[in-house]
Amino acid sequence: ANTARFDYIIVGGGTCGLVLANRLSEDSGVTVAVIEAGDSVFNNANVKNTTTYGLSLGTSIDWQYSSAPQVYGNNRTLGYNQGKALGGTSVINGMTFVRPESAQIDLWEQLGNKGWNWSSLFENSKVAEHFVPPPSSQTALGAAYNPSYHGKEGHVGVGWTSAFIDTNAYQTFNTTWRNLAVPYNQDPNGGKLRGFSVWPYTQKDDIRQDSARSYYWPIAAARSNLQVFVNTTATRILWQKDATTGLEVADSVESVGANGTKLTISASREVIISAGSIRSPLLLEQSGVGNAQILKKFSIPSVIDLPSVGENLQDQPNNGVLAISNHTWVGSPPYVTFLTAQDLFGTNASTVEAQVRKNIPSYAALIAQKSNGAFQASVQERLLTTQADLIFKDAISLVEIYHSPFSGIVNFPFWNLLPFARGSIHVNSQDPTAHPLINPNYFEFDFDLQVQVMAARTGRKALNTSPLSSVVKSEISPGTYTVSKDASDQVWGDWVKRTYTSNLHPVGTCAMLPRDIGGVVDAELKVYGTKNVRVVDASVLPFQVCGHLTSTLYGVAEKAAKIIKQT
Ligand code: FDA
Repeated sequence: ANTARFDYIIVGGGTCGLVLANRLSEDSGVTVAVIEAGDSVFNNANVKNTTTYGLSLGTSIDWQYSSAPQVYGNNRTLGYNQGKALGGTSVINGMTFVRPESAQIDLWEQLGNKGWNWSSLFENSKVAEHFVPPPSSQTALGAAYNPSYHGKEGHVGVGWTSAFIDTNAYQTFNTTWRNLAVPYNQDPNGGKLRGFSVWPYTQKDDIRQDSARSYYWPIAAARSNLQVFVNTTATRILWQKDATTGLEVADSVESVGANGTKLTISASREVIISAGSIRSPLLLEQSGVGNAQILKKFSIPSVIDLPSVGENLQDQPNNGVLAISNHTWVGSPPYVTFLTAQDLFGTNASTVEAQVRKNIPSYAALIAQKSNGAFQASVQERLLTTQADLIFKDAISLVEIYHSPFSGIVNFPFWNLLPFARGSIHVNSQDPTAHPLINPNYFEFDFDLQVQVMAARTGRKALNTSPLSSVVKSEISPGTYTVSKDASDQVWGDWVKRTYTSNLHPVGTCAMLPRDIGGVVDAELKVYGTKNVRVVDASVLPFQVCGHLTSTLYGVAEKAAKIIKQT
């Protein structure tokens, strides 16, 4: 076996991992190692492409997980994609760049994460951003922005592709939503999402700006104090107990290369886990940090009994309303509409709210009961109430309807942004490179389905509203043969459950929260019970966010780098 020693070891050269690799190696006096299971994809044409979504899904740079059978969602097993490459999921994703609702980030601080509020996240997310303002040819088509919402000095290029060329689409969609009393939102990137918007992408000059192309290749790759081990999967952290504090100290990380070679790297300062929401909790469990009862089943000796590891998984279901159009849509149109509970439920909103609040104690009890002892019902009740407050009091967005018209089709993929369901990810094998058990528990609660049904109804309504209705020939999904014009919620719900896929936005499995309310890491992103192990990736987000994840994650990683450097 080979051995080496570095000051910092980063496990996972993905979206967040490469931000840290860049920032920590800025100090030439420290040495940094990145362990990445995938390969470099700098020259991969599917990765660079900015006009066709999904080219890398199902290829060797996708982990190609599948979920556990979804007991509340027709017992279906769903495909579950995540990026496996230098750059992580940012090399396979849809590239949309849209920040969350400010109120939902302020909640992080209100629950005990000092310093983690909207204003700080917004600043750090702007630090990551290199916004390229649209030329007049693009503003004429609807590209719009508020300059104070964007960073100019960062590494990640953000803007519109030249393929954004349909002259009809902007006015058609915008006017349709106005006719449904949904306002135009000039720029959704400043913490308020509601309305119809034209959003930018993480791209520059028609090339994807993933975290490797932004943070690693142009600046960090040439540094002699940074070493990246690609095609290398970390399998275990090895520990030593600090006699004075009783804390566990990560001493080294064991890995296995593509050809089976074992590698042990020692850490002089810290181990930072950035393996993403699926594999960060898995690596902790494989290293003895997690629910001792679960680890025992796989003969893993318990080092820190931390049952919250891998719990609190939050993801969204995705369905689509589609119609055949008599207009041929050109290009790669960046349109979206975010809707609140009020938009969806109208005059029924307060009745719906009362029902949700009445049900929260039973939701909390079920979540606690299935958490393998990680959560107390009373704590969950408090946390779910904060979620209801965001939805009904702060009126943050509850549904996203993405507009993805292509050639002769109008396509509205849509999702409930804030399901109450809580799932889990846990070790499922003694083989350290095997996949974990992924269980998002889609549609665990009635309200989660009700929201998805209302989103579907609203998508259909938009297709039948002028001026969009004048270019729509016939609906093909669900189609009135499957779900008739006067169909009940039950019929809509059955269709939703038959056709949903994962929205692939898993968060929360190593939540940043106080330990007594289910946290895995503290406000400095340090794993409870350890002296020198942090987690920095989507798994630390304590709750789902309404924007898409990378804008938040780049901000989290930039802030994390500052915290680590100050230590
Ligand atoms: P990320 O997955 O980026 O990085 C983890 C890295 O760790 C990976 O490179 C992995 O190979 C590596 N790794 C894991 N285990 C390891 C081990 N044991 N040893 C070594 N390496 C290991 N967001 C958005 O803002 N706009 C969008 O359009 C989309 N669209 C989208 C589409 C699809 C298909 C998906 C799956 C996701 C999106 N997202 C998105 C979400 C977003 O891209 C995603 O949440 C982040 O990129 C995740 O970043 P992380 O740093 O958490 O993990």
